[in-house]
Amino acid sequence: MTDTEQADDSTDGGDPQEAIDAQGDRRREGLDDRIFEHNAGDDQEGIPFVGAGPGNPRLLTVAGKELLEEAELVVHAGSLVNSELLDEYCAHAKLVNSVGKDLEELIPLMRDAYEDGDDVVRLHSGDPAIYGAALEQMDALEHEGVPTYFVPGVTSAFAASATLRTQLTLNEVSNHVAFTRPQGKTLTAEEDHISDFVGMGDVTTCIYLGTHAVRDTMDRLLDDGHDPETPVAVIYHASWPDEDVIVGSIDDIADRVEEAGYRASALVVIGDAVTGAGYERSYLYGDWANRGTESTDANETETQPGDD
Ligand SMILES: C[S@@+](CC[C@H](N)C(=O)[O-])C[C@H]1O[C@@H](n2cnc3c(N)ncnc32)[C@H](O)[C@@H]1O
Repeated sequence: MTDTEQADDSTDGGDPQEAIDAQGDRRREGLDDRIFEHNAGDDQEGIPFVGAGPGNPRLLTVAGKELLEEAELVVHAGSLVNSELLDEYCAHAKLVNSVGKDLEELIPLMRDAYEDGDDVVRLHSGDPAIYGAALEQMDALEHEGVPTYFVPGVTSAFAASATLRTQLTLNEVSNHVAFTRPQGKTLTAEEDHISDFVGMGDVTTCIYLGTHAVRDTMDRLLDDGHDPETPVAVIYHASWPDEDVIVGSIDDIADRVEEAGYRASALVVIGDAVTGAGYERSYLYGDWANRGTESTDANETETQPGDD
């Protein structure tokens, strides 16, 4: 799959959109009872939408691994799901690559297998909740009477921060994280908020689906007057054997990425958290840890500052 594609899958409209609208109406009426009956990570009835993680099979969750090992049909999200992971955990399953298939093809495929009694897994790259186009498939399946649920995965931004040996949030450097994508087929120029996030100064901006657009994005940031020295990292295939890290700044990262030849499958991280330099020790392991013993009530503990 390439960055210029919308996401893991796209729809051609038609019946699936009606199903999506009908599920939307149901959501407006009230929350699904299953929200209160299950926790994330529980085994549930139906087709699990599993996050494969960023690539390295070791970064698949235990729940995801168990589901894949039992699956008879695995519909996976193409080249961003590492074939090593498929070889390791799905040896006995029928594998179907979802790239190039629309909802009209995917939904009956999964529904029929499920109704025939097969264990079906829909495998997305990273976490299905981030640019995964999972919900539209789930809604279309639910509309046809096939229950579905999420099994989370490690999103590529978290693999990228591990590779960079940094945190996406760092005391006095970055208080927020934005998961975003650049303008293109899906987003208009007005919907592209990368410059706004960078302008906030204390946000780590993680750009998905933007490898092909690094030069355009950096040019826009320069046009908008952002500091050309702002650190930027581009992590290609985070956690894969051919992982590559390119570190530079708004000013020069596009040249470096073009030189490396990457047009897809990388995460772009902008902000001072890239280097991890200049942060202050946290309140959690400072004043708060030394606060004395009189206020150790559990509820109070939970509402104390986070472990940044
Ligand atoms: C359709 S989005 C899917 C994102 C995925 N759901 C996730 O949570 O990582 C695809 C984009 O995710 C990013 N991506 C996915 N896997 C990656 C990896 N291992 N290393 C770097 N970027 C990755 C790239 O920006 C790619 O264009």
